[in-house]
Amino acid sequence: MAGRKWERGPSPGRSAGPSETGFGGPVSVLRGFGVARYARVVGMVDAVATGLAHPLDPLDEIEIRAAVAAVKRDARFRGSHRFFSVTLLEPDKDLVGGDVDRQAEVILVDRGDGATEEVTVSLAGAEVVGWVKLADCHAAYLLGEYMRAVEVVKKDERWLAALRARGIDDIERVQHDPWPAGNFGVAGEQGRRLVRIVCYVRHHKTDNGYAHPIEGLVATFDVTTGEILEILDDPEAAAIPSECANYDEAGVGAWRTSLKPLDIVQPDAPGFVVEGSAIRWENWRLRVSMHPLDALVLHDVGWDDGERLRPILHRASLAEMVVPYGDPRFRYWQAYFDTGEFLVGKWVNSLELGCDCLGEIAYLDATVTDDTGQPRTIPNAICIHEEDFGILWKHTDIFNGSAQSRRQRRLVVSYFTTVGNYDYGFYWYFYLDGTIECEVKLTGVLFTSAHPGGDHPHSTEVAPGLAAPVHQHLFSARLDMTVDGPANAVEEVDVSGAPIGPENPYGNAMVQTVTRLTRESQAGRRADGSRGRTWRVVSTERHNRFGHPTAYTLYPESAPALLADPASPLAARAGFAANHLWVTKYDPAHRYSAGDFVNQHPGGAGIPAFIAADQDIDGTDLVVWHTFGPTHFPRLEDWPVMPVAHCGFVLKPTGFFDRNPTLDVPPPAPHCTPG
Ligand code: NI
Repeated sequence: MAGRKWERGPSPGRSAGPSETGFGGPVSVLRGFGVARYARVVGMVDAVATGLAHPLDPLDEIEIRAAVAAVKRDARFRGSHRFFSVTLLEPDKDLVGGDVDRQAEVILVDRGDGATEEVTVSLAGAEVVGWVKLADCHAAYLLGEYMRAVEVVKKDERWLAALRARGIDDIERVQHDPWPAGNFGVAGEQGRRLVRIVCYVRHHKTDNGYAHPIEGLVATFDVTTGEILEILDDPEAAAIPSECANYDEAGVGAWRTSLKPLDIVQPDAPGFVVEGSAIRWENWRLRVSMHPLDALVLHDVGWDDGERLRPILHRASLAEMVVPYGDPRFRYWQAYFDTGEFLVGKWVNSLELGCDCLGEIAYLDATVTDDTGQPRTIPNAICIHEEDFGILWKHTDIFNGSAQSRRQRRLVVSYFTTVGNYDYGFYWYFYLDGTIECEVKLTGVLFTSAHPGGDHPHSTEVAPGLAAPVHQHLFSARLDMTVDGPANAVEEVDVSGAPIGPENPYGNAMVQTVTRLTRESQAGRRADGSRGRTWRVVSTERHNRFGHPTAYTLYPESAPALLADPASPLAARAGFAANHLWVTKYDPAHRYSAGDFVNQHPGGAGIPAFIAADQDIDGTDLVVWHTFGPTHFPRLEDWPVMPVAHCGFVLKPTGFFDRNPTLDVPPPAPHCTPG
């Protein structure tokens, strides 16, 4: 057995019933946020007692139903309205400790005219307290809009004729992928709600369609009017690649038999405790929630040193990601904003113990909504476990023979989401030594087109006639820092060698150059591996024993930022991706790096707008925005399904502690300390 799944447990303080000790171990898990939070009275969805939830707990099913019912009762609600999202309107950070009216933020799309509307519902009163019709913006597409686009295009005579001209008579063998249209300033497209459809042919029902792209055939569809705006049909574009690429057992022939069982066993149960949406493990304290856009959100991450809880991160989440493709010949419009256009949090996977997760796992469910506002629970959406991570520290004293070893462990909080052809795993790690790491695991199937033949500068031929275009995956982490309190500042730290001179006669000197980033306009920065560049978030109020500010340092990778031309339509929409670092003064309205509604937005929203006032960021409540991720020139080894590629960043304590905080970690076993 690879591990066991913790059964649903009661949550102390939320319902009558046995306490966490009912598990026979220290782990308490409430599967599903707030499932047991309220007395379940059938039909009791018109008014909700909100006193028992933590202000940052995500909405549960009952609250979602209550919010949806309140919206539907309102005179402004029409039959053509659909529910894009129903989420907690997070209270401002100053109010979290107080008596807060829980409110739902409901985004509606009117299928009648394509308008996006923002409704605020007070859950205590179960009433609408705000209703705004938003100008010039599009919420991301509803599932129903994508489905309608495919249904209409599949029946269009021009489309069917174009397929027949390519030898395809059976429309059911054709896989239709509807994608956001973007905004390229094309006349006739502005103001419309558009998707573009590309297609693939499957040789059989379970065939991998991405092996057989139908090149030169793209439909542009208005999801509001139901009208096909344009069919681009170039039968000469390229032949359909014929080689199949399936990765199931039938596709690979036979699986290897050499791998032996590898079990992870914690006979005394793991050391973390989950209570509702709060997690504690060793010195770490945090809360988690799942949001349709941000997906996993960390709240109130802090370090309990036994005397006080030292805050580090007020809130951390993925605030956008963009995947631009770099082939100008094919599908120049392909650049997907997976947060703002696809809602990564809506497509979170339900994880399987022994398959996706090994060991002693606690899961949390997540609740999202469908187009009609019906809650849908994703079981096992968030995976929580403890992992051995090799050596923590070690030293052999060659003079006296003493040898000491300690093992590192980390708490892992993760989820996986599927966005079309790609799958992304987001992993947050909390280490014994105070390090926080964010890692993204990229896998799934490459996006493909037909290869023009010969050497091609913008793609890799991964099968005969099949191209995998170069692309970037640029993630934007929003890190609302609160290192030892809200008064923080950011410093850029470079290292370099110093030239030979009177103070450095042999030329061996190395120095740090520290530059304080005092204004928003100054804090748009690029990573620089040649200088070992890092960014240090310092407290402007607390000091360590040497009188230096306590700090956490962001260690970036040094992959390229956005490679699209700065004058391109994409660069305008993905302004956040121009740099690896931005720092803004905290503003609760600044939530998403490319703006609240990036879908078909012409550009300029998000971080470029946030920094327009060029505010002072020295000694204030600030937010660090970090762009990271690979530029992916596909390898042959990435086909037909991609081994996980990794990217991410690390936050390390830097003078936050007065010395190594793990000296009290015991040796793993008595015989590990000879001498
Ligand atoms: Ni990729």
